[in-house]
Amino acid sequence: MPPTWKNVRADFPVLHQTVHGKPLVYLDNGATSQKPRSVIDALVRYYEGYNSNVHRGLHALSMRATDAYEGARTRVARFINAADPAEIIFTRGTTEGINVVARSLAATLKPGDVVLTTEIEHHSNLIPWQQAARASGATLKYVPVLGADAEGGLDLAALDELLTPAVKVFAFTHISNTLGTINPVAEFCRRARAVGAITVIDAAQSIGHAPFDVRALGADFVSFSGHKMCGPTGIGVLYGRRALLDKLAPDETGGGMVVSVTYEDARWKPAPERFEAGTPNIADAIALGAACDYLDSLGRDQIAAHDAALSRVAMEKLSTLPGIRLIGPRVGAERSGLVSFAFADVHAHDVVTFADEDGVALRGGHHCNQPLMRKLGLTSTTRASFYAYNTEQEIDILVASLRRTLKFFGAG
Ligand code: ALA
Repeated sequence: MPPTWKNVRADFPVLHQTVHGKPLVYLDNGATSQKPRSVIDALVRYYEGYNSNVHRGLHALSMRATDAYEGARTRVARFINAADPAEIIFTRGTTEGINVVARSLAATLKPGDVVLTTEIEHHSNLIPWQQAARASGATLKYVPVLGADAEGGLDLAALDELLTPAVKVFAFTHISNTLGTINPVAEFCRRARAVGAITVIDAAQSIGHAPFDVRALGADFVSFSGHKMCGPTGIGVLYGRRALLDKLAPDETGGGMVVSVTYEDARWKPAPERFEAGTPNIADAIALGAACDYLDSLGRDQIAAHDAALSRVAMEKLSTLPGIRLIGPRVGAERSGLVSFAFADVHAHDVVTFADEDGVALRGGHHCNQPLMRKLGLTSTTRASFYAYNTEQEIDILVASLRRTLKFFGAG
């Protein structure tokens, strides 16, 4: 039976447990999502039924594994509306995908070129560009974020000045993991194209939460992780437009990515094999295909609407707490399914520890976003991030837990 919104929680075995004697309220989906039974079953089916290496064997198991692995590539291509499955490169996750692009593009950059990114990037979409700029002599520039609480989103007026023909790469996140801000990625891609810049989208926080169409966007590269979209850890995807992928040098070399090798030299296969040296992560790629099926059976439009509704409720309820500083878009403004906040007198780690006692899983810290934290004058925030299986009742449990914490610290 296909999953429905009625029994969505029943699809996730891990949700049905108690933590410290309280029902688990899992609100750390920005860090990793839970996995539905169909994804877990896909892993078990592979290991119990046809575990074998791909692309190498002529025996039945290897052919079955190869079909399933390549089937997953085709499924992911359909999930993001890529023109060709060859544009889907399996990686370990978002970070690896961005590193592959950044290292490969670094070889094409020179002094005078600009790599443009934004002030709200997660470290994964920031440090690789610092390294690429350092290696090539290119200059790294940032689109500023507006407002003392980063409530204004990225400064689109500054983008007018920053996005010049000197910009060779424009790398930006779709949804901020720290703020919940949804960036106007279609506009960014259009404006980057107008100056001939290559676009690289960090879709880690968005891909499993909203429809994503690489062709409608005209995106050049998109990187995302399986584990934040109901898939396994250790698998991710780098999408690259075919014409660009074929020009990129491979980042890693070894077996499986060559057409011929001599003692002196080697010639690469085209994408995607060129970028998948060695035995790939077969089981997790197959299970990622199952995650795509699951999310599409729920409907990504509906997931986005559900996340946004929970965020709206959470923002309204959180704003009643004494001394709370809400970070990112204001109450009532558009935001993704996550909320981030700070209390002047209670450290985020204390908030998270107290919430854990109440069975509530949150994330507290700098969220791999240290420069943004510094800009906001913060060392950390507490983040609650939602998914399809979360409920309004869980937000009430969160708010009650926060009230208890504030009271304990004499701040409530
Ligand atoms: N990027 C992940 C997060 O925001 C790990 O939690």
